[in-house]
Amino acid sequence: MAPLPISSIRVGKIDDVQELIKSKPNTVPERFIREANERGVLVSHKTHLHHHIPVVDLSKLSKPHTDDDFLFEILKLSQACEDWGFFQVINHGIEVGVVEDIEKVAKEFFEMPLEEKKKYPMEPGTVQGYGQAFIFSEDQKLDWCNMFALGVHPPSIRNPKLWPSKPARFSENLEGYSKEIRKLCKRLLKYIAISLDLKEERFEEMFGEAVQAVRMNYYPPCSRPDLVMGLSPHSDGSALTVLQQSKNSRVGLQILKDNTWVPVLPLPNALVINIGDTIEVLTNGKYKSVEHRAVTNRERERLTIVTFYAPNYEVKIEPMGELVDDETNPCKYRSYNHGDYSYHYVSNKLQGKKSLDFAKILN
Ligand code: OGA
Ligand code: NI
Repeated sequence: MAPLPISSIRVGKIDDVQELIKSKPNTVPERFIREANERGVLVSHKTHLHHHIPVVDLSKLSKPHTDDDFLFEILKLSQACEDWGFFQVINHGIEVGVVEDIEKVAKEFFEMPLEEKKKYPMEPGTVQGYGQAFIFSEDQKLDWCNMFALGVHPPSIRNPKLWPSKPARFSENLEGYSKEIRKLCKRLLKYIAISLDLKEERFEEMFGEAVQAVRMNYYPPCSRPDLVMGLSPHSDGSALTVLQQSKNSRVGLQILKDNTWVPVLPLPNALVINIGDTIEVLTNGKYKSVEHRAVTNRERERLTIVTFYAPNYEVKIEPMGELVDDETNPCKYRSYNHGDYSYHYVSNKLQGKKSLDFAKILN
């Protein structure tokens, strides 16, 4: 998330959804009510049992590269990236304690009084701190969600004033968690490279000092989940995104597959991975970033901890030579600097896959 200049964007009054449900649990203010065609209908997951996002077992990918289990899982990974842009990983090796610890402090953070959270405000036009990101006008609809976002790595992207002093172990747990997620991203990018017949280190070498940011999304229950949206449809600007759903979480995340919103069922101890716009460009569209959104429910709050992993801002992004062929697979995206894309992404509202128009070669 590249820094934005402080601007004079007028965003109007942004109600804090957690405060809203405390004072008026059965009211949904006009600014949260979506047009009929934009509403987050709850899809019963029973109707989608045949339609699961793939599950990749990382313990099988730790085996020797000649092992059948390894080869089978790589094939599964490549199909997941090509057909879904989303998958869940199990046996990822991150200790349960690390996952539980970040969830605990994130939850405690959102449960603090508003005055405390307001010490870390997300200023209009910026994407770090507590508030609602991607709001650029007074009439733009709001999401039924509170966000707390921080740049994590490299340290130069941090805004230390936004790292909270409470809950006490917040920073320590976030550091520990982010280190593990960083290792996971590097590992996944190796496997993704192998799945594309590239050399293992291809992405790591290209990305330089990779950029890592975290966003915690808190979706309180809503009396009318049929009228609102938890998080507007979008694709992620990252290379890879790692999403952790709070324990016993209801279905909330949905992905657009063959024009249908498919719910992502939370699996115990799994992490949800998705391909971001950057990998779509690098693979010349072979692996696609997929539009997704979050819906809310009447009964229970939902918390997600989302890590965005991307190349260094200085890195030039363009489809990789190995995956372009002038005759059979011409180049679909122009080349650009990742920092410029990142800036473009955070300075526009979330709107499906529109951000990628920035890079598409239209003919
Ligand atoms: C995101 C995202 C989905 C969710 O933060 O980019 O897609 O379920 N979140 O919170
Ligand atoms: Ni997303």
